[in-house]
Amino acid sequence: MPVLGLGTWRMGETAGRQAAEVAAVREAIAMGYRLIDTAEMYGEGGAETVLGQAIAEALRAGDVRRDELFIVSKVYPHNASRRGTPEACERSLKRLGLDTIDLYLLHWRGSHPLRETVDAMQALVAKGRIARWGVSNFDTDDMEELAPLIGSGPGCAANQVYLSLGERGPEFSLLPWLRERGMPLMAYSPIDQGALASDHALGELAGRLGLTAAQLALAAVIARPGVVAIPKAVRSAHLQQNLAAADLKLDADVLAELDRLHPPPRRKAPLAMI
Ligand SMILES: NC(=O)c1ccc[n+]([C@@H]2O[C@H](COP(=O)([O-])OP(=O)(O)OC[C@H]3O[C@@H](n4cnc5c(N)ncnc54)[C@H](OP(=O)(O)O)[C@@H]3O)[C@@H](O)[C@H]2O)c1
Repeated sequence: MPVLGLGTWRMGETAGRQAAEVAAVREAIAMGYRLIDTAEMYGEGGAETVLGQAIAEALRAGDVRRDELFIVSKVYPHNASRRGTPEACERSLKRLGLDTIDLYLLHWRGSHPLRETVDAMQALVAKGRIARWGVSNFDTDDMEELAPLIGSGPGCAANQVYLSLGERGPEFSLLPWLRERGMPLMAYSPIDQGALASDHALGELAGRLGLTAAQLALAAVIARPGVVAIPKAVRSAHLQQNLAAADLKLDADVLAELDRLHPPPRRKAPLAMI
């Protein structure tokens, strides 16, 4: 899995913006983005439709091969029953125009028993409709509850949670828990929904390094071993900057300065959600 991908939340919500959003995702693929995150929730299927159109155009144009892309989507908790999960997955596959979703996540915990969701996810892997399954917004205790349900079937491949310089809570116990089990943490809202891009102190430090504040925020998140970030961007300059952040290596002085500006957690706090 690449360490940096593209988010699509807020895409597919307005018909008038669809062409620009398809163009942005196409541009992202042409630039080299390979991991793209979406969900049936985003624009109630609209973001998957945007992504599907962009993928189809990119494949037709020869910008990328299907096997180079890593497409992530998510099932709504209210659909995540034994029967509802495969039905939702089929609807997502249709909107995406794909035969397989590379990683399919339970968006957050809902009222259906986890047992049913895990069984449904493992059955989807067995049928080849998804390559892997995982979860999102699961705290350490949720992961502990999930672990014994996995049995001998395919295991949970990732946990997507809110992690940024502004929200470092998962670094306390969740990230170590996932790391010990070789499970990647996918950091959502890694620029705090754009807020870190205009953070003055971060901007000053970034400027000294010849970076933008958003790039420094992203480099800081993916500097943690086992973390993948999925910033959302539509603007071309943002797409470029964010992709370039994937190759940045921050030295110990910079990481220490970032710890001073945004201290790591000292105790366990409940997982934050957006
Ligand atoms: N699993 C979950 O429950 C969950 C929850 C939230 C998000 N997510 C996923 O994570 C993705 C990312 O999170 P997010 O969209 O909430 O927030 P984000 O990626 O932290 O921030 C996105 C915002 O930052 C702006 N931005 C991006 N790059 C920038 C740059 N280089 N300089 C300045 N501004 C920049 C974007 O502007 P432009 O668009 O105008 O370029 C957009 O307004 C989502 O799109 C979604 O796929 C998952």
